Amino acid sequence: MSTSSPTRFCIEARKRDLVLILIVLLIGLGCWQGCDKPKQAASHPTYIVISGDTQGWIVPCGCTANQSGGLPRRATYLRQLRSGADVLYFDVGGAAAGDSPYQQMKLEAIFAGETSMGISAHNIGGSELAMGAASLASLVNSTHIPLLSANAHLADHSSIAPEIRIVQFQGKRLGVIGVVSRRFATAEIAVSDPHQAILDVIARHKGEYDSLLVLAYLPQEELERLATETPEADAIVGGPTGQSIVPRRVGPTLVASATNKGKFLIQLTPPGADSVAWNGTVVELGKSYADDEDQVANLHAYLELLKERDLTAAESGYAPVLPVGVPSDYRIAGSTSCISCHAQSSAIWAHSLHAAAGRTLEPRHFEVDPDCLRCHTTGYGLPGGFVSPVRTPQLYGVGCESCHGPSEAHVNNPMVHTQYQAFDQCVRCHDEENSPIFERVTYWNKIRHGKDSTTRPATEVVPN
Ligand code: HEC
Ligand code: HEC
Ligand code: HEC
Ligand code: HEC
Repeated sequence: MSTSSPTRFCIEARKRDLVLILIVLLIGLGCWQGCDKPKQAASHPTYIVISGDTQGWIVPCGCTANQSGGLPRRATYLRQLRSGADVLYFDVGGAAAGDSPYQQMKLEAIFAGETSMGISAHNIGGSELAMGAASLASLVNSTHIPLLSANAHLADHSSIAPEIRIVQFQGKRLGVIGVVSRRFATAEIAVSDPHQAILDVIARHKGEYDSLLVLAYLPQEELERLATETPEADAIVGGPTGQSIVPRRVGPTLVASATNKGKFLIQLTPPGADSVAWNGTVVELGKSYADDEDQVANLHAYLELLKERDLTAAESGYAPVLPVGVPSDYRIAGSTSCISCHAQSSAIWAHSLHAAAGRTLEPRHFEVDPDCLRCHTTGYGLPGGFVSPVRTPQLYGVGCESCHGPSEAHVNNPMVHTQYQAFDQCVRCHDEENSPIFERVTYWNKIRHGKDSTTRPATEVVPN
């Protein structure tokens, strides 16, 4: 109907129309408040998202195309999901890759990132345990990370994190318990049997929650066993396992694992309008997820801090441990010291990507990150080798001695052979993760050098 020309209608007709409109409006309003409710709930689902086994991967290194994972994508995933759902976020643990001062800085950055993603609990895994109780306490202080552990405690039985966290979730209470494998116990921190610890916590908190999620930093075999032993849990999410485990049922319990450098997330759907049982799926954080701005800022703050600290190879934890009594001339001499006698090899090398491997790190500001420097510099942590960005800038790039070994003795006396079997060195850096298509013959052909490099066919110089 139209009211644009009121003269066509008598007053009575307009009144009747108005009443009709009012009735329709009222029914509509009533329905909006009552009839529509189930629909409303269905269009606003609830999810539990769980990451784990981050192993220090704040972002993929970018050594090869199509690497998944990283906190910036994780945050984008959560943000997108939250725009249409209630989402709780947890982590299984294993966020760092060691216990050096460097790894501690990295863990702090990861915790800060997870806190800004609104994490509800971060379970203590192997690398968190290795940090030690004092470091963990200071990280909780600086990042407010909500740690969780039911079975890690100090020698005097005092706990290092709450044994359970109960989270309100759409009017229900979700109990979350975290455990770690006994194999990660340290001299300082004892670890009790995960299954028994869970039963004890359940007994102490009966009636305080409606459903139970267990975060279990356990290798595959222990994880599977825990799942069969713990029907009390609605879902058990673990890792590190060889591969992510797509959520599947073991008895009444859903078991899954988020593993491999945080490349995958587990997403669980608790029972609701659509289903009476827990469901779940694995999400791969591929490059289709954009980088979240807050997380990129967090990454840059971390890189800025690394630049300030100028960490040495020793502080990074990546310096190789040498046997005692190495001769004093077992030292990196530097690629420039080879030029005078190996001009041709030096010229070939100077034009290779190896020589430029330091500059490769600059566009994304990673030239200060030990986890990149260990492969993108010469003799990282070896005598005379790369120490830190400020102290040894001349050793950026993969130099001659990255493959031939510390060669000062050879430089002083060419009759002394170089240290390494050069071909054995490639896979130290060209590993599955950073160079997945590495193949010795084709790669060698791109950097061929040495006295007969122009005449010897590749197949003859390449040992099997
Ligand atoms: C375990 C050794 C290793 C580590 C650690 C490592 N890289 Fe690499 N990186 C490599 C190797 C090997 C290549 C060459 C891969 C190839 O061409 O097959 C490479 C290549 C690259 C490239 C060039 C990619 C291209 O497409 O040309 C970039 C950029 C890079 N790395 C950045 C990083 C950053 C940033 C880090 C730290 C976050 C890092 N790398 C850590 C070994 C490593
Ligand atoms: C003073 C001259 C001199 C300098 C400096 C020198 N070399 Fe040599 N290098 C030689 C001679 C001579 C040989 C033996 C060549 C032959 O057997 O045909 C040799 C052999 C080698 C070989 C063959 C394998 C072996 O160990 O005998 C490698 C690899 C090598 N040099 C690498 C290097 C590197 C890397 C540097 C720099 C760190 C370097 N050289 C510096 C003279 C030198
Ligand atoms: C100390 C670590 C390290 C070692 C050892 C090493 N590489 Fe590399 N390699 C790198 C890095 C880092 C890059 C990437 C350089 C860049 O793009 O900045 C690279 C790049 C290359 C490239 C260039 C890739 C391309 O497609 O252009 C070739 C070829 C290569 N390496 C061959 C080898 C071979 C063969 C060996 C063993 C004889 C070897 N590398 C040993 C670290 C290493
Ligand atoms: C990425 C690894 C790598 C780098 C970097 C590298 N080399 Fe080599 N080099 C090799 C390999 C592999 C061979 C051949 C296999 C062998 O004989 O061990 C070789 C062979 C040689 C040979 C001949 C050895 C022989 O017995 O015939 C010389 C000399 C040599 N390299 C010198 C150098 C010098 C000098 C530099 C730096 C300017 C350099 N290399 C950089 C891996 C490397």
